[in-house]
Amino acid sequence: MQTARLATPRGTRDVLPPASERIRSLTGRFAETAQRAGFRQVITPIFEHAEVFRRVGESTDIVSKEMYEFRDKDQRLMALRPELTAPLARAFANHRPRTPWRVWYEGPQFRYEKPQAGRYRQFNQVGAELIGSDDPQADAEMLALAWRFCEALGLRQVILLINSLGSPADRAAFSSALGSYFARRLGDLSEQGRATLAVNPLRLLDSKRPEDRLAAAAAPDIAEFLSKEAAGHFQTVLDALGRLGIPFAIEPRLVRGLDYYRHTTFELRSLALDGAQDAVGGGGRYDGLVADLGGPPTPGVGFAMGVDRLLLACDAEDAFDVQEQDLDIFVVDVIGGVEATLLADEIRQAGISAERAFDKRSMKAQMKAADRSGARFALLIGAEELASGTVTLRDMRRDDGEAPRGAQVRIPRGAVCEEILRRLAVEARTPA
Ligand code: HAM
Repeated sequence: MQTARLATPRGTRDVLPPASERIRSLTGRFAETAQRAGFRQVITPIFEHAEVFRRVGESTDIVSKEMYEFRDKDQRLMALRPELTAPLARAFANHRPRTPWRVWYEGPQFRYEKPQAGRYRQFNQVGAELIGSDDPQADAEMLALAWRFCEALGLRQVILLINSLGSPADRAAFSSALGSYFARRLGDLSEQGRATLAVNPLRLLDSKRPEDRLAAAAAPDIAEFLSKEAAGHFQTVLDALGRLGIPFAIEPRLVRGLDYYRHTTFELRSLALDGAQDAVGGGGRYDGLVADLGGPPTPGVGFAMGVDRLLLACDAEDAFDVQEQDLDIFVVDVIGGVEATLLADEIRQAGISAERAFDKRSMKAQMKAADRSGARFALLIGAEELASGTVTLRDMRRDDGEAPRGAQVRIPRGAVCEEILRRLAVEARTPA
């Protein structure tokens, strides 16, 4: 009886090569950018006590509706992480590292969302946090890091939207003013909009539903609620952006989907992506988060970017073309047994990349495989080579004036790595 084929869970995907190579390469590029700025990687668990997220975002959809929660065998309530800022603040509270703590991360996040292009239930983020400084220049530094990373990928159609939610008192006053404003327009709101109003009036500002948008048209502006200190902080960040030459637009409706933000919040959007999933990254300041998670009052600022969305934006802009990795050697084995295994192992240990054939297939089939692999040289080991203690090195270069395709030499088995390294080095010095 045939068993039905199993699909991946809804909203998840298998990422096969070469797409997986692009993810690896993008993540590597982010790591380089962050390391160059003095950030170091932190790896936290993929699941946490649900409390870590519940404490900081009970009134947000990400926590209340979209979190993958489960009881473990000891009946503890756990959650697959929907994001990494709360776990990082939790780690800070636990370990109390020296400040400012400059850290970066990468990895999968989980949100039970309605899947569509660019919106998945498991998706990858790269991000960075700077914990322990309330200097507005720290905000500017994080913004610059995120912006320059997009530039380095070759993205030209990304825009930066920025806003300030002020101090907790400013935010509370604004939220209450919004509450009264929308309460007077209850009938105009969508059904979900009315539910949102009850928990978090701020979130109505970025509702995508047309009724809510219309109702929000004359809503109060956060700028009127900013204290002098908060307005000063925001202005310093904007001035720094100006000096850095990073273009931005102030978006007073930008409230973001997580509750911990205060002062600066921002989002990077791609004009090349579909409106509903055009945010390639977002972040901001979260000065109360570490204390909420049991640590000392400690300010923090950071951002995260969606790897999958960044790559979609790269596709749409024809940017960040990842070169297939070059393969140096393909070992063609017509005798079978352990010889090709030893040969491949030896040359890999010498730092040369090598693939090999299996199953003693015909010489013709193996040469075809060598050709498909894109290897620079084929290394043939047959009965004759084995008897004479040699191997045959065949040039696999495609259209080359100097060496005709297929030119081959016999080399002593003991000198194989040396000879390959010599040839590769000569080529590295002589550009094609
Ligand atoms: P966030 O805006 O929720 O922020 O997520 C950051 C980015 O992750 C989004 O801009 C988007 O590119 C990507 N993303 C979010 N949800 C999905 C999804 N379902 N499918 C694909 N990509 C997605 C945070 O997570 C905060 N922790 C950012 C932060 C760091 N704030 C301060 N520090």
